[in-house]
Amino acid sequence: MAHSVALLDQTHDVKSFDCGTEKLNTWLQTIAGQHQSKGLSKTFVLVDDEAPTIIVGFYALAIRRMTPKETLPAELARKLPSNIPGYTLARLAIATSSAGQGFGADLLVDAMRRAKQVSNQVGGAFLFVDAKDETAADFYSHFGFVPLPDDPLTLVMPMSAIEYD
Ligand SMILES: CC(C)(COP(=O)(O)OP(=O)(O)OC[C@H]1O[C@@H](n2cnc3c(N)ncnc32)[C@H](O)[C@@H]1OP(=O)(O)O)[C@@H](O)C(=O)NCCC(=O)NCCS
Repeated sequence: MAHSVALLDQTHDVKSFDCGTEKLNTWLQTIAGQHQSKGLSKTFVLVDDEAPTIIVGFYALAIRRMTPKETLPAELARKLPSNIPGYTLARLAIATSSAGQGFGADLLVDAMRRAKQVSNQVGGAFLFVDAKDETAADFYSHFGFVPLPDDPLTLVMPMSAIEYD
């Protein structure tokens, strides 16, 4: 079965999405569209091409406020100015009915590629993720994200380490 990633729009059935985490379901159902139309974040959904209204998973990307250099892992902060521009992968979730099939990895790679493409055009040195708990943080660590020393549920990857484009 072929799958595609699309910008969230009104054809997508947000109401039936269930990733097992109420807060993430509610965010997709009630906030994602509003934030998108206000330019606060963009949400991308993974759909099966044969049932393109059903959301298999989603993620949201946004510009991050400037990050003070001293909050970064020391090895990533060398030779950088005091405040660093970057992006936030704010949320990523897969429907429980589709978990464990590689879709989370597919969406994470898609988000990293998209952030890299934007940074190739306008700069932005890091992609940050805000993990909701330790299990989520472990998922991102599995893909090479590094926790901030004083805030281990925030993880970071340098754009220079993202090889997709
Ligand atoms: C976390 C989540 C996105 C993973 O999605 P998934 O589609 O089940 O994961 P995948 O099948 O793509 O797994 C890809 C890889 O990550 C690993 N992985 C999955 N969850 C993991 C976890 N919590 N910790 C460490 N590794 C994990 C898998 O073992 C797999 O490894 P491999 O490629 O070496 O075989 C999904 O479980 C989910 O939506 N959870 C609820 C919401 C959530 O926690 N979101 C996270 C951020 S807020």
